[in-house]
Amino acid sequence: MNLPRGGGEARRLYIKTYGCQMNVYDSGRLAQLLSAHGYRTTDRCDHADVIVLNTCHIREKAAEKVFSELGRMKQMKARDGGDATFVVAGCVAQAEGAELAARAPFVDIVVGPQSYQRLPELLARRDRRQAAIVATDFPAISKFDDLPANRPEAGAVSAFITVQEGCDKFCSFCVVPYTRGAEYSRPASQVIAEARSCAAAGVREITLLGQNVNCYHGEGADGREWDLGRLIAEVAEIEGIERIRYTTSYPADVNDALIAAHRDVPALMPYIHLPVQSGSDRILRAMNRRHTADAYLRLVDRLRRARPDIALSSDFIVGFPGESDADFAATLRLVEAVGFAQSFSFKYSPRPGTPASVEPQLDDALKAERLARLQTLLNDQQSAFNAACVGREMPVLFERPGRRAGQVVGRSPYLQAVHVQLDATVIGTVQQVRITASGANSLAAEPASPPPVAS
Ligand code: SAH
Ligand code: F3S
Repeated sequence: MNLPRGGGEARRLYIKTYGCQMNVYDSGRLAQLLSAHGYRTTDRCDHADVIVLNTCHIREKAAEKVFSELGRMKQMKARDGGDATFVVAGCVAQAEGAELAARAPFVDIVVGPQSYQRLPELLARRDRRQAAIVATDFPAISKFDDLPANRPEAGAVSAFITVQEGCDKFCSFCVVPYTRGAEYSRPASQVIAEARSCAAAGVREITLLGQNVNCYHGEGADGREWDLGRLIAEVAEIEGIERIRYTTSYPADVNDALIAAHRDVPALMPYIHLPVQSGSDRILRAMNRRHTADAYLRLVDRLRRARPDIALSSDFIVGFPGESDADFAATLRLVEAVGFAQSFSFKYSPRPGTPASVEPQLDDALKAERLARLQTLLNDQQSAFNAACVGREMPVLFERPGRRAGQVVGRSPYLQAVHVQLDATVIGTVQQVRITASGANSLAAEPASPPPVAS
């Protein structure tokens, strides 16, 4: 039994998080849930009584990393003569729960993303003499109804709030519909209550999260369905919330209300992560993406008309089954046409159970070559975008001290990291700065007006 040890000493919990921001959010909620059951988090795996790996299944290497990390942690524990309860959570747990328990027999609990609310009970029930407990059902009641209210981390300036989870789009390469389940929107009242408590705790920026965040259609305070544009407008009304972001969007679901929010809601940052995956209509069709390259370009135009300084980022997959040189060239053309501020690009990775995984696969060397070419172009665009900021003034929300003495780090409206020599008292506030230099991944700046002289 995993009750607090003798003398009421808390059991120590170590969580390692892989993958997307939703996993980061989930890990925070897991830690809060378990803290109510006598667990205290530690950042030292070798000290932990319970080790949770919150895993990602989106690409091959992600799952492989989990297996090797599990083996490493187990060895470390054994070397120290200690023992720990091993919990595998997240999307690898959901997709490969049974295989995982067989391949790593020291794993005690496998828990899928929709069953986290059960973890205290599973930990209490765990009996080492039996095989691992595997909890990967999709319950009828949302986990959000059973998890305790979210509290942001102490001192956090920026917080994630999951508003939507799961996906019904079934892109032919993607495991998310299988690992996260059917599309679900949280009621707006839950989201707003969470955003309010974040604001009261000092959070100034909220990022609304969803696998398909812009198909949000939660129940609003008026009993009607609210879309993401409406939800953003309501979150913007909360005192203390100065910035709103959202991720990730599906191009075909960007509606007029969302575009209007970019025009009308000052707190909504001029930045959108809008994965396109490919610039070839033939490949987009094979991916089951429900949008063409041209529709994407028209959408970008509409967003730019509503908010001329909006910056775009995207995800790309190269080497999808059947991708020809001409298809790949179409992707490069789309990238040239848009001009991205930032991007993520991947070699296609066949995922078990997805339709594209059974198609004839492209040679890995060809995928690698295409990825390198695409990344060169995307990196050049990112550097150019950063360089174009030099000399401009912009508001920065300061988040934390920098590595150098007297330095603070914040985010520009376009999500760039900005380093400034300023007193740490600016952390948690938005300050106007002038950009003085740019690098591949960050900017340097000085205060736009000199700080007041202390009397
Ligand atoms: N809408 C989702 C996207 C999920 S995955 C969200 O962000 O929550 C993030 C990105 O990983 C995708 O946009 C896609 O570019 C990439 N990806 C997904 N499955 C992949 C696969 N099988 N191989 C390579 N890349 C993949
Ligand atoms: Fe995956 Fe496509 Fe949904 S990328 S998360 S199936 S929109």
